[in-house]
Amino acid sequence: MCGIFGCICKADNVAPLIHTGLKRLEYRGYDSVGEATIEDGKLFVKKDAGKIDEVHLKCNLDDLPGRIGIGHTRWATHGAPSSVNAHPQFGCSSPPRFAVVHNGIIENFAELKRELEDNGHVFKSKTDTEVVAHLIEEYFIRKPQPDERRNTEPAGVSKFEAAVFKSLSRLEGSYALATISTHEPDKIICARNESPLVLGISEKGRFFASDVPAFLPLTKSAIFMRNGELAVLKRTSFTIRRLSDRRIISREPKLLDWTPEMAEKKGYPHFMLKEIHEQPESLRNTLRLQDKYLNLLTTFLDRAHEVIMVACGTSYHACLAASYMFSKISYLATHPVIASEFSEQHSKSANIDSTILAVSQSGETADTLAAVETARQRAATILGLTNVVGSTLTRVSRVYVVQQSGPEIGVAATKTFTSQLSVLSQLATQLAKKRGKISTEEIDLLEEKIKLIPEMVEQTITSQESKISSLARKFRDEKCFFFLGRGISVATALEARLKLMELAYVPSIAFPAGESKHGPISLIQPGFPVFFICPPGETRKTLMGNISEMKAREANIIAVCEEGDEEIIQLADDYVEVPRGIPEVLSPITYVVPLQIFAYRMATEKGYNPDMPRNLAKSVTVR
Ligand code: M6R
Repeated sequence: MCGIFGCICKADNVAPLIHTGLKRLEYRGYDSVGEATIEDGKLFVKKDAGKIDEVHLKCNLDDLPGRIGIGHTRWATHGAPSSVNAHPQFGCSSPPRFAVVHNGIIENFAELKRELEDNGHVFKSKTDTEVVAHLIEEYFIRKPQPDERRNTEPAGVSKFEAAVFKSLSRLEGSYALATISTHEPDKIICARNESPLVLGISEKGRFFASDVPAFLPLTKSAIFMRNGELAVLKRTSFTIRRLSDRRIISREPKLLDWTPEMAEKKGYPHFMLKEIHEQPESLRNTLRLQDKYLNLLTTFLDRAHEVIMVACGTSYHACLAASYMFSKISYLATHPVIASEFSEQHSKSANIDSTILAVSQSGETADTLAAVETARQRAATILGLTNVVGSTLTRVSRVYVVQQSGPEIGVAATKTFTSQLSVLSQLATQLAKKRGKISTEEIDLLEEKIKLIPEMVEQTITSQESKISSLARKFRDEKCFFFLGRGISVATALEARLKLMELAYVPSIAFPAGESKHGPISLIQPGFPVFFICPPGETRKTLMGNISEMKAREANIIAVCEEGDEEIIQLADDYVEVPRGIPEVLSPITYVVPLQIFAYRMATEKGYNPDMPRNLAKSVTVR
């Protein structure tokens, strides 16, 4: 799980461009960084362990010479963060002639390494990536073997390109990788299998990256690479070929409508805070979805014998909330499943009558894609909800909807969660219309409420932010929190707990409030902080009882409730208010917002960087 970026330019020195491109990819991993460029037939390299700013301060990443180069920001999978394990990785020729950057995991690297060592290659790092550099070197210098395609490469495939094609055919696992060589210093070769890779096309040159924001300030013209494809980038041209048969693929660039500003911090201290504040806007964007796409998706849902929703982390919490929406609004039973468990739970039972709704912000989460693949092999129908057009999920889905949240850089999912829920609630109401299960008046009311949500979220942020900051100061040193709710609010509670744990490193507990008395309540001592999510609705009365049980044991009750809900406010020690008028079935979209802010403030109070929680990466592209 790393970020790769590189470019070949007509006139510019590329090192500063690579440095800033990698900065925009730092959310993908940040334990080491490196760049390699070529100038006058020589490879120049800088790399080290540490975040990009730290490494740049130490060795100035910008002063590498050359108009071609590749870079990498790492999240370690094989080999600890260190200078030698940082990418780029090289073969064994001295001075080095081949450099490789890679995101993914080469599963058969140990066996390839043994083979290469038997052929005299000497390895320096503990990374799986280094085998790729040695393989390319090996195939470049090796005499033709009878079982190799050396003499059958189509016209136009150079010696370096042929060596890369052959090397890739030996790899098992996932990769988005790029390589440069002093033997053919006029090109970057990059390829994709499972890990994301996108090309940027501009007048100034050609770019590749793990994600679009890396080159957005340089160009909006992008080509999303697909699995099993290789691209050769030159200063004024590019070629894409299929790995399997080397056939040239012609694909027009797409013009992206994301502005570079959308991917920058806009004056906020952290991306996460900016993204929390962007929610009114991103929610408004979800209301612009074309009915025809929602309709198509609901047609599939309507006909399904069983609907299984698969996702990870925050996207899973969106699925959990959506399962209540589908049940209560459209009378459809759905099963939310954590994607990494899908295969164990459903690989035998999923079948041609199953419909899988995969939800993934990035569209690249390995566990979610693996679940989708398992389901596909069982002939299930795949539907997708994602934020990234061109992502793998959009390609493997029969029908997909794009949630329109714009780039989310903070590792913690915030605006993408509320957008996913807005889209899912629209799907539920569309489906209800189709199924005729609830009255037109009820549907009209729900649609009206969904339209009011952006405004409600805006009001929540404006009116509650400073109060939540005070709460975070008050509870800064607490060692554990409970997050409790009933019904759909269980999803809100789970999401609030995930935010607090991943950002402020406070191990916390979330479960349905009714479960307290079956065990967890034994943890309660005077002053123990317990959040209750209290939207008005069917669950409220019983929830009041649960609050009283906690209060009787002198817990510190923090209620997230409707504005002016005096009954709850009287019971609570602290409270945060959300605008009136949201039906319980839509409540996670507004009630989660103060809890996102709380987690953010707890992290900053404790001196942690919420954009870069330890051990995490934005897009989890390994299983
Ligand atoms: O891109 P996805 O929605 O598939 O990502 C799923 C999870 O990795 C993600 O939600 C993760 O849990 C976040 N760190 C939550 O803030």
